[in-house]
Amino acid sequence: MKIPEFQHHKQVGKKLTIVTAYDAMFARIVEQAGLEVILVGDSLGMVVQGHPNTLTVTMDDMLYHTRMVARATQSALVIGDMPFMSYQISVEEALRNAGRFVQAGAAAVKIEGGQIMADRVRAMTRMGIPVMGHVGMTPQSVNQSGGYKVTGKGAEDARRIVEDVKALEQAGVFAIVLECMPALLAKELTELLSVPTIGIGAGPHCDGQVLVLYDLLGLFDDFVPKYVRPYAQLKSEALQALKRYRDEVESGTFPADRESYH
Ligand code: KIV
Repeated sequence: MKIPEFQHHKQVGKKLTIVTAYDAMFARIVEQAGLEVILVGDSLGMVVQGHPNTLTVTMDDMLYHTRMVARATQSALVIGDMPFMSYQISVEEALRNAGRFVQAGAAAVKIEGGQIMADRVRAMTRMGIPVMGHVGMTPQSVNQSGGYKVTGKGAEDARRIVEDVKALEQAGVFAIVLECMPALLAKELTELLSVPTIGIGAGPHCDGQVLVLYDLLGLFDDFVPKYVRPYAQLKSEALQALKRYRDEVESGTFPADRESYH
């Protein structure tokens, strides 16, 4: 999947399905399942590293995981999620760090924020690095917003989001993630924009959807947001398997004769 093909989906009304992945094993499974776009999300701070939020994730962490995913994929579009403070300080630093993602194997990067990030988007796209925007609930601003809350419910907040997506589109993003906002607002933004909108907790009218892999597989159950549909129950399967393994080691039924060398 290349950027022009990704964008063509909107023109022909074909929905885009995106999922996060953080390592080679899952990246391979995602691609084998026929999904063509992988986001190496900074959500790995929570689901892989065990932190309460994404703020402690570093460039080195993200590059490490991006390399693993890029190495394992054949044709999927790999998008690297720029971590907190890797693009906020200056346009120059944003550009340098975006370049490091490309060198690690990502074909594009994602940054959070609206109008204030337009100059970063312009600089990166001018240098040939495709950028995905991300507005609405932006987890890297959790200290300012005071928590993970639905955005755009009031007229003023909704108007600010409209201005944000317009600025991002003008600056050259190839797509925009809309996170946690009323479905009607996401619908209007989707109609307003010529680039695809990718929803997460933003209802069914977006041009595509993105979910955190561990949420959709039922692996991460510390907190399951309303918008997540667990398509599998891998945590309970893993628990059962591990308990059985322990029981069978303790009872002496593992390993059996066929699992032993002679
Ligand atoms: O980090 C992440 O996984 C994300 C998506 C959920 C949009 O930003």
